[in-house]
Amino acid sequence: MRKNVSSHSGRLFSDRKWVIPLFASLFVFVSLVLTAIVGALSSSEGIEQSSTFDIISFARSEDSGGYFVESDFERQVNANVVQKMEPPRLAYLISGTKGDSQRMMRTLQAVYHPRNQYILHLDLEAPPRERLELANAVKGDPTFREVENVRVMSQSNLVTYKGSTMIACTLQAIAILLKESSDWDWFINLSASDYPLVTQDDLLHVFSNLSRDLNFIEHTHIAGWKLSHRVRPIVIDPGLYLSKKSDIAWTTQKRTLPTLFKLFTGRSFMEYCIWGWDNLPRTILMYYANFISSPEGYFHTVICNTEEFRHTAISHDLHYIAWDTPPKQHPMKLTMKDFDKMVKSNAPFARKFAKDDPVLDKIDKELLGRTHRFSPGAWCVDTSEGGEDPCLLRGNDTVFRPGPGAERLSVLIQTLLSQDFRSKQCL
Ligand SMILES: *[C@@H]1O[C@H](CO)[C@@H](O)[C@H](O)[C@H]1NC(C)=O
Ligand SMILES: *[C@@H]1O[C@H](CO)[C@@H](O)[C@H](O)[C@H]1NC(C)=O
Ligand SMILES: *[C@@H]1O[C@H](CO)[C@@H](O)[C@H](O)[C@H]1NC(C)=O
Repeated sequence: MRKNVSSHSGRLFSDRKWVIPLFASLFVFVSLVLTAIVGALSSSEGIEQSSTFDIISFARSEDSGGYFVESDFERQVNANVVQKMEPPRLAYLISGTKGDSQRMMRTLQAVYHPRNQYILHLDLEAPPRERLELANAVKGDPTFREVENVRVMSQSNLVTYKGSTMIACTLQAIAILLKESSDWDWFINLSASDYPLVTQDDLLHVFSNLSRDLNFIEHTHIAGWKLSHRVRPIVIDPGLYLSKKSDIAWTTQKRTLPTLFKLFTGRSFMEYCIWGWDNLPRTILMYYANFISSPEGYFHTVICNTEEFRHTAISHDLHYIAWDTPPKQHPMKLTMKDFDKMVKSNAPFARKFAKDDPVLDKIDKELLGRTHRFSPGAWCVDTSEGGEDPCLLRGNDTVFRPGPGAERLSVLIQTLLSQDFRSKQCL
């Protein structure tokens, strides 16, 4: 491309070299996503899954006419009213790239709870040997083997930072989670460089009292200077047609921007994105295939343009993240000096951490009480002498032992649910 193209946006489209790759990538992208989703849902289990449809989210949407087109769904939902009282379950996607497998295991162990579901994804940059090592580490853990709630995605995708392949990968993981495990209430997207600041007992205890349809999606408003960077440039995600990872291909010469993309989303919204009983999620997907910062914008655009879900969006991703001023493309690495700020933020997660940074040991010791494999909770009931791992013996997983982390998280959630904060959603 000639360097001066960006100053004449009209010429962008008259340069035919871009037309074919543009539509080819759009086509390949949509086919990939549809293949992944249809493949994951092709068994008849799709129907059975709906029997565990979330109750609270249905009740919430009654005032807007109900979004269930299928009356079967409705009947099954009504038959399961008793489920409302159950403590929640979370579904985690932990993703990483080459060299991340050990960090992924550490993050997994720090957020592990037998009630939850976990899916691990190493992208195509990671050599097959590393994927095998990760799978073996999961297989070798006696607790994972028994509870069967940790999966390693066997199919790996080339994930480009900020590219639309990231949405495809996230949607595929969600489709697998919907197919494989009947009952979870929130989907959480973490990377190998994320780490929790509260125990799962804290998180599950606080979320027990929340409406199951809330969606925490951080977004920045597209306005002013951002508009010119994010909306106008046409981008082509190289992950769609290359087998080697590279940065997004720009059709104009513009600098990239930091993205905030973390999801903590309710099950019913995820079902809408995957099974989408109206066509909006797919239409937006096609548009986003060539749009910069697509992962961040995609879910936010879908949620804010769907009447049934708009009121469920909360613009906070439940992460502590520190940026340089002015912001660079990636967030700052958190170290020992950030510890107090992280705790004061009341956030349940933080990113990003360097591998085995000493501050992770401090978090293990002071916030999570993690001395063995897992951050212990009330489900760890092995009290035998000799300092053995208390989680070797599993107790009742509906009982929680909330600690100081639950108090911090409650404070944050109260702020987020306040009228003042919620009135700023989807503006
Ligand atoms: C979810 O989180 C990861 C890790 O932080 C992040 O890179 C990306 O924005 C999201 N998507 C996927 C597929 O992981
Ligand atoms: C949730 O609600 C129950 C009953 O109203 C209450 O006893 C409990 O303390 C609440 N928990 C939290 C974390 O707010
Ligand atoms: C687990 O604890 C809950 C709440 O205390 C109780 O209702 C349930 O019966 C217990 N389950 C088992 C298997 O003991």
